[in-house]
Amino acid sequence: MPDIVAGGIYMSAVKIIGKNKLDGSVRIQGCKNSVLPIIAASVVSGGRSVIHNCPRLSDVFSSIAILRDLGAKADLCGNTLTIDSSGVNSDTVRPELMSAMRSSVIFLGALLSRCGAACISMPGGCDIGARPIDIHLDAFSRLGVDVDSRGTSVCCSASNLHGGSVALPFPSVGATENIMLLSCVGRGVTTIYNAAKEPEIEDLQNFLNGMGARVFGAGSGVITIYAAKKLYDIEYTVMPDRIEAATFACAAAAAGGSVYMNPVVPEHISPVLNVLEGCGAKVVRYASSLLVVSDGMLNCAPFVATGPYPGFPTDAQSLVMSVMSVSHGSGVIVENIFENRLRHAYELCKMGADISVHGRRAVINGGELHGAHASACDLRSGAALAVAAFAADGETRIDKAEYINRGYDGFTEKFRSIGANIEGMNDDG
Ligand code: UD1
Repeated sequence: MPDIVAGGIYMSAVKIIGKNKLDGSVRIQGCKNSVLPIIAASVVSGGRSVIHNCPRLSDVFSSIAILRDLGAKADLCGNTLTIDSSGVNSDTVRPELMSAMRSSVIFLGALLSRCGAACISMPGGCDIGARPIDIHLDAFSRLGVDVDSRGTSVCCSASNLHGGSVALPFPSVGATENIMLLSCVGRGVTTIYNAAKEPEIEDLQNFLNGMGARVFGAGSGVITIYAAKKLYDIEYTVMPDRIEAATFACAAAAAGGSVYMNPVVPEHISPVLNVLEGCGAKVVRYASSLLVVSDGMLNCAPFVATGPYPGFPTDAQSLVMSVMSVSHGSGVIVENIFENRLRHAYELCKMGADISVHGRRAVINGGELHGAHASACDLRSGAALAVAAFAADGETRIDKAEYINRGYDGFTEKFRSIGANIEGMNDDG
């Protein structure tokens, strides 16, 4: 897919020579985990959506491919994505488009809202876990949606859709977003109990309300959606990406140096910043920016356990594992969200890390790392290996770096601009 270019470079591998201090300032991109549901939400209005601060990621390009296949027009110019969804003439996301991006399940709620019916295929398990959608479909059924799930395909009809209350057994981010999209137009009032509280849910609420929806409570565990008769055109700016900020914060802490990030809402990554401070990094939180200063001599965090927001984000778990691997002392990480998201531990061990994994628990004995030939297992683990490589002695090659293109706009360029010795390579070497 070399034509799908994130940040100007399609990378199949990344080469890093470690031990450079990171110094300087980086601009934080628009939030990947916000913009993907927002792109799906643009289908609901049947109008024009102008989305500013859209990061240039392969997942965004996959979403644009879905939009176009559904009959919408979509153009990404710089960081502004303009979508005209008036021409949507299909309620089906084709399997080959679905499989390119796991989070395309969000189109189910959007298409049901827009077309009254929707079909998607389930790509099955992914690299970090099985990722079922039973919570989404159970909630849909409670709201009157007819769900026909056969093998890998799911077809739904919303002809009997009504409002109501749904209590989620787990505060699933995707299910909360899907219910918001399903219920924002039509009739009735829908209340989601035990809703996900992630900041990205609030960004989606703001986008929907900007189109004329009436969604309240995002950021709390109870979200109420009063169905609107119609939605309108919108111009919207996506919030900053808290996980990109966490990535630069972890890199600065591990490699040493002084990195200023802007714009950032520091509160969105409080658990990550608290861990880095506990390790010995200096963290200065401004209203909408962040400074991390470190001499690279850290103490290992004793215990980190991931959880739903405002808990420690699963997306930053691998990043902090890299930090712990280059710290003095020992610590434990427990991954509570995804059952298969500790595989980067084995890749870090190739760099000399001392980590043992027992189920969802990893025990890390910090120390010195050296360069090695490692491989990304998923988007965030690719970034985490880079964080480790910045702090390691010698040269590291990270394969499967196309994962990094899924979530980081200009990864190598931004790190180079603050002093990292990093180079992206394509298939030709
Ligand atoms: C999750 C993260 C989100 C992160 C994103 C990308 C949480 C709570 N969610 O969102 O912060 O940005 O991954 O890495 O941290 N589950 C079910 N049935 C369902 C839906 C989910 O069993 O129908 C389970 C999943 O298998 C997983 C957990 O619930 O173990 C979290 O799921 P969910 O929040 O829905 O995942 P994402 O929306 O992908």
